Amino acid sequence: MNDRIAHAGLAAKLMPAEQAATLIEPGMSVGMSGFTGAGYPKAVPLALAHRIAAAQDRGESFALRILTGASTAPELDGALARAGGIDFRLPYQSDPELRARINGGQIEYMDIHLGHVAQYTWFGFLGKIDVAVIEVTAILPDGRLVPSTSVGNNKTWLDLADKVIIEVNHRQPMGLDGMHDIYYGTALPPERKPIPLTRPGDRIGEPYLKVDLDKVVAVVESDAPDRIGRFTAPDETSRRIAGHLVEFFRHEIRAGRLGEHLLPLQSGVGNIANAVLAGLHEGGFRGLTAFTEVIQDGMLELIGNGTIDMASATSFSLSPEGVEEFVRNIDLYREKIVLRPQEISNHAELVRRLGCIAMNGMVEADLYGNVNSTHVAGTSIINGIGGSGDFARNGFMSCFVTPSTAKNGAISAFVPMVSHVDHTEHDVAVLVSEQGLADLRGLSPKQRAQQIIDNCAHPDYRPLLQDYFDRAMRDSRGRHTPHLLGEALSWHQRYLETGSMKP
Ligand code: COA
Repeated sequence: MNDRIAHAGLAAKLMPAEQAATLIEPGMSVGMSGFTGAGYPKAVPLALAHRIAAAQDRGESFALRILTGASTAPELDGALARAGGIDFRLPYQSDPELRARINGGQIEYMDIHLGHVAQYTWFGFLGKIDVAVIEVTAILPDGRLVPSTSVGNNKTWLDLADKVIIEVNHRQPMGLDGMHDIYYGTALPPERKPIPLTRPGDRIGEPYLKVDLDKVVAVVESDAPDRIGRFTAPDETSRRIAGHLVEFFRHEIRAGRLGEHLLPLQSGVGNIANAVLAGLHEGGFRGLTAFTEVIQDGMLELIGNGTIDMASATSFSLSPEGVEEFVRNIDLYREKIVLRPQEISNHAELVRRLGCIAMNGMVEADLYGNVNSTHVAGTSIINGIGGSGDFARNGFMSCFVTPSTAKNGAISAFVPMVSHVDHTEHDVAVLVSEQGLADLRGLSPKQRAQQIIDNCAHPDYRPLLQDYFDRAMRDSRGRHTPHLLGEALSWHQRYLETGSMKP
């Protein structure tokens, strides 16, 4: 036993990662911890990748179904994908090795709302979970688990898996103890009851994960940091996007539709999201709250400087400087941050009750406000829908942000028809680019189109979009949502053929 593994029975199951990996057999469904590069197991997946590679060298096939909270890291998704060890993966991912194999057609990938994963598993829609591999910060004397830097689907994997492998990561700060809120009150229909959460900071569960000790087949120790990336400082484009959004919030306060503390913010990951958060501070907002998925550097800063009073999420995604700051002031952050299972952080009932303001990135939007968050030219996935749909459909107001062009202007983010739909026009209230903001609330499709052309499209593409829209108004058979069907995806086709959407 040591101070991180204080339960004698579980300490007796301590073994090297290589030995634990032998407990996972070909064809199994494995539920792993991990969400946006935080809290994923670091030792067992690497050992498993070696075992898989060795089996394949012997000519044996060895592939697994891998289910997580969201994206992980090179030591998990990267290593297993490179070894050819994944034949099915869900949900959100962002690893280049994995993405290449998904888009190459070698791995089946199911892109699913993050808020649906737990309940679909409980419903039996995703098959049985053979093994759970879960990173924790520590094991308490009574066998309960102190979660680490993400909660994700860990509760579900621990509850439903036949066997459990626990990875205790000595690198995760013990100060995390007390930051989590694990709700054990969920049930299956028709027995479901209201979830008793009415404020982002409410604690409705307990700080620890429970596990049936008889199911634990291995305990492994690791000592490694989470995948930590750097955020680039906000550039002019993201600052302008943030500026439009902050100005819009002020307008909504003046119009009496929002109070001065706004409503709980949900903010996607990435540099633009970080810039929007910084913009809120510069805009003088104080006493805000967040009910979101991920705490990134921008959110920590806002908590530190008093812009945000309380933040609820399921995971962290911090830069090296963010990690340092977090560990230095962990006692403050434990008062201001609650980490929950993703079935709660992304729960439709809660997002709707709290009235979240959803702010997410996107790949492209079309004239009528349908949004593609995931696919390039309709066929190649970037990451996945993540939680954007959980918040866009159910929030108080759904905003999507993007630079007006991608790839040095060769691609317009505003196109006649999106090449893939993640969020339909019915779930999209506000579109923002560095050019401006289109407020689509209360508008018909044709009214929306003109707003988007005038306010969001890049000047290089604005006349082309206007021309398409004018001709569609004239020649389309139906005039409710006018389209020229033979031409609607021609911009994407031109990009594939010439490398640019420009004629
Ligand atoms: N066509 C082709 N590629 C595009 C594109 C378009 N219309 N728009 C963006 N891209 C590419 C960018 O060029 C960039 O590629 P690169 O890394 O090779 O340069 C990449 O997509 C990321 O774009 P970027 O402008 O840096 O924005 P981002 O980091 O904000 O990411 C999404 C944008 C859409 C990929 C990202 O927001 C996402 O994955 N969203 C879906 C999940 C989600 O919304 N989660 C929120 C809850 S956590």
